[in-house]
Amino acid sequence: MDKRANPAPLEDSPQRAAERKQNHIDICKRENVESRSRSHASYFLAPDSLPDFSPEALETSRSFLGESFAWPYLITGMTGGVEEGQRMNESLAQLAERWRIPMGLGSQKLMLKDPSYKRLFDVRRVAPKAFLIGNIGAVSFNYGVSVADVCRMVDDLKLNACAVHLNALQEQIQPEGERNFARVGRALEELVKVSSVPVIVKEVGSGMTAETCRRLFECGISAVDVGGNGGTSWSVIEGKRGDPLTQRLGELFRNWGLSTLESTVECAPVCKAFGGVLARGLVATGGVRDGQQAAVLLAAGAQMCGIGLPFFRAVMQPPVGLSADESLEQEMQFFARSLEIAMYCSGARRIDDLAARLRKRSEL
Ligand SMILES: Cc1cc2nc3c(=O)[nH]c(=O)nc-3n(C[C@H](O)[C@H](O)[C@H](O)COP(=O)(O)O)c2cc1C
Repeated sequence: MDKRANPAPLEDSPQRAAERKQNHIDICKRENVESRSRSHASYFLAPDSLPDFSPEALETSRSFLGESFAWPYLITGMTGGVEEGQRMNESLAQLAERWRIPMGLGSQKLMLKDPSYKRLFDVRRVAPKAFLIGNIGAVSFNYGVSVADVCRMVDDLKLNACAVHLNALQEQIQPEGERNFARVGRALEELVKVSSVPVIVKEVGSGMTAETCRRLFECGISAVDVGGNGGTSWSVIEGKRGDPLTQRLGELFRNWGLSTLESTVECAPVCKAFGGVLARGLVATGGVRDGQQAAVLLAAGAQMCGIGLPFFRAVMQPPVGLSADESLEQEMQFFARSLEIAMYCSGARRIDDLAARLRKRSEL
């Protein structure tokens, strides 16, 4: 009998990895995969009943990683490596180009293990001008992926930035998880030194403390995505793929970690402290479901808000009578319009004006 409670994970292979991607898509389509966070209710924007400007004067543009975007939204990295994921990524890339917002790809580990999967990630063909962000798991550096591989993957697909995800919880629950994160910080430092594009490090649901954020900026990365709880839970998703023990563990950790808002409040001062010439970015992803929530996160110091599951479901399960692209367009309009309303009704003409409107509920 294995002395550790943590048994050796199942062997992984490109085929198993592709099956896993398909499992993730199927589970995210139909099951309750979200964690719960009530922290968004602890802050709100003070209303302004006399906004002294015309709604046409609202400015929603935002600069991030030295680029200017029309909205403070980012399509967060989701999937790839399967036909269904490719169709989704193509629609998302076209949305990103139309609305002038950045878009992340899902983990590209598959195409590094087997180059025949590359075409399933190549969305540049359909969105030549979109700002595209690559994706790889930090733990992969301990399991055969090299810094040079990641640089090649970015160049091959003409990507504009590279996101490295931190997903310790997901890997512990995942039946074939890569569980050892020791020394990945060193690989990050190395990547930053040689990468031709900015490096973003993203959590995927556990949130981020100020300490972690500081450590990451000390590695030289350009932006963090705090990836807090309150949205898609990878603990739950991996749990649903496993045996009864794995399912129980996945549910146990559904609400693990800091919420997206708590993480943003913790990490924003760190970002400012590391500002200067090389301004560091802060993305708030995890449970962003409308422009009102996004406005609060922006007021709390986020530069951009990442959106995952709402876009995933809009494109994968469009309402009856709408095509996937129409459904996606409608979802984006909802996010855009609800942000404009939150800004106008709190008297914030520009996104930077939102900070002065932030109130903590306990202060009432
Ligand atoms: C179907 C799906 C696949 C995802 N795949 C990846 C991935 O490969 N790499 C990654 O960094 N994050 C991945 N994510 C996580 C998202 O980037 C994001 O952190 C998470 O979904 C939280 O945002 P949400 O609550 O708006 O969904 C995925 C999310 C979804 C829904």
